[in-house]
Amino acid sequence: PSEPYDAVIIGGGPGGYVCAIKAAQAGLKTVCIEKRGALGGTCLNVGCIPSKAMLNNSHLYHQAKTDMKHRGIDIDSVGLNIDTMLKAKTQAVTGLTRGVESLFKKNGVDYIKGTASFITPTRIAVQLNDGGETEVESKNVVIATGSEVTPFPGGAITIDEKRIVSSTGALDLTKVPKKMTVIGGGVIGLELGSVWSRLGAEVTVIEFLGGIGGAGIDEEIAKQFEKILAKQGIKFKLNTKVISAEPQGEDGPVVVTFEPAKGGEAETIEADVVLVAVGRRPYTEGLGLDKIGVDLDGKGRVVVDSQYNTSVKGVRCIGDVTFGPMLAHKAEEEGVAVAEYLKTGHGHVNYGAIPAVIYTHPEVAWVGASEGDLKKSGTKYKVGKFPFLANSRAKTNMDTEGVVKFLVEAETDLVLGVHIIGPNAGEMIASAVLAIEYSASAEDIARTCHAHPTLSEAFKEAAMASYSKPINF
Ligand code: FAD
Ligand code: NAI
Repeated sequence: PSEPYDAVIIGGGPGGYVCAIKAAQAGLKTVCIEKRGALGGTCLNVGCIPSKAMLNNSHLYHQAKTDMKHRGIDIDSVGLNIDTMLKAKTQAVTGLTRGVESLFKKNGVDYIKGTASFITPTRIAVQLNDGGETEVESKNVVIATGSEVTPFPGGAITIDEKRIVSSTGALDLTKVPKKMTVIGGGVIGLELGSVWSRLGAEVTVIEFLGGIGGAGIDEEIAKQFEKILAKQGIKFKLNTKVISAEPQGEDGPVVVTFEPAKGGEAETIEADVVLVAVGRRPYTEGLGLDKIGVDLDGKGRVVVDSQYNTSVKGVRCIGDVTFGPMLAHKAEEEGVAVAEYLKTGHGHVNYGAIPAVIYTHPEVAWVGASEGDLKKSGTKYKVGKFPFLANSRAKTNMDTEGVVKFLVEAETDLVLGVHIIGPNAGEMIASAVLAIEYSASAEDIARTCHAHPTLSEAFKEAAMASYSKPINF
């Protein structure tokens, strides 16, 4: 065995790799153990990055096909080369995962390719990917093993990644399906449903709840979002529960059976490809947590205190595998905080200021409380809205769907939540996150000069609308 480390990080995703780099920058002797064979975790390999590559290129294709003539651009024919589109996605992934590997070298993080499991709280065995085994030792271990696709309950649907796919298979289809059924109208269902719908598939999304967009979305925004996606051709069956999906024969269609969420008569729909997107669950398989006594909650999440300590001294945990939203940037913030705890004894993440973005077109983004949250907590609030239809840049771009919505404390104008559906919402939300981080009032924002003509003026005017009147609407 090698000399003891100051920190061992298990998992090289956004939580683990960021924690490892930050720890090494702080002067700690650090090693990261990752079994995938590439760094970057779910996010870089089969999540955020490949999905955004496919979203961007499918949007350009769809735009070229449907949205050029009235701009004065005549394109004779637009064709799809799916192999090249998939290659472009793979290039983005490998470029970035290798980039993380160079960052490890640059910052002096040791990287072991293999599967880690606890022998004791301070001793970790690693099954090396290339064969053989090694052990590492450290007083500080950080679990950052992430999450995996939640299988369909009761084993009623088996994912084969060909006809019945998870997000991973849906990012690698080599042919555009004629009909695609998406189970779950959450983030993955809407993003990847959009990709294949734009590329030509007839997409039906079946969602158990009465609205789309997953947890935390503002109800009013969710309704507008549904209408916009429906106009783009995606069909929705809400308040509907999928029961099973059965592939017919060797290469026949898949028959999906569903019924009203409250119970009632079952119906079926046929699809060439079914995407199962009913959530993700924490991943701790083979880590040996039971051996050292790390507590899990009822959902399989590693239980931590406010300083990311598990129930076992010296073992901390961050990212998808513990509490909180399963988002890359949340995992990264926790990675930095834990590295700081290890070095200085202090660290902090503001869980009230973590943005959520759905990368469809238009994008949906929010931070802070939704109207539903404020009603539930009995908070007195005011609403300020500004539609992109009244924004000059959105008009010139011919991209005017959506709205910016501010929720502010009635008495003080303190920004409590911002919800955006519209072009570039994912970039614009950063201003709202800063506002909440610095406890800004709506008036602080409305009195800040925003460049003209930009989409951000809609943000400023929505802030203005929450305590006064907007100028341009
Ligand atoms: P992970 O990224 O899951 O990394 C954990 C790593 O640990 C894995 O690489 C795994 O191989 C490794 N590991 C596990 N066990 C062991 C072991 N015993 N030994 C060694 N290594 C081990 N989030 C966003 O914020 N924005 C997005 O746009 C976005 N898009 C997404 C799209 C899709 C299709 C999916 C599936 C997810 C998306 N997410 C997105 C979520 C995001 O990917 C996760 O929140 C993020 O990856 C969590 O980071 P993590 O470090 O906690 O875990
Ligand atoms: P999700 O939790 O967002 O959505 C799953 C949906 O499936 C829910 O709305 C649920 O009601 C529905 N559902 C469950 N069982 C059903 C059934 N039997 N029939 C019909 N509907 C059913 O989970 P999703 O989309 O799988 O994504 C997992 C996580 O990955 C997200 O929560 C998010 O944290 C992360 N992610 C983030 C992205 C981003 O930030 N842009 C993109 C993709 C994923």
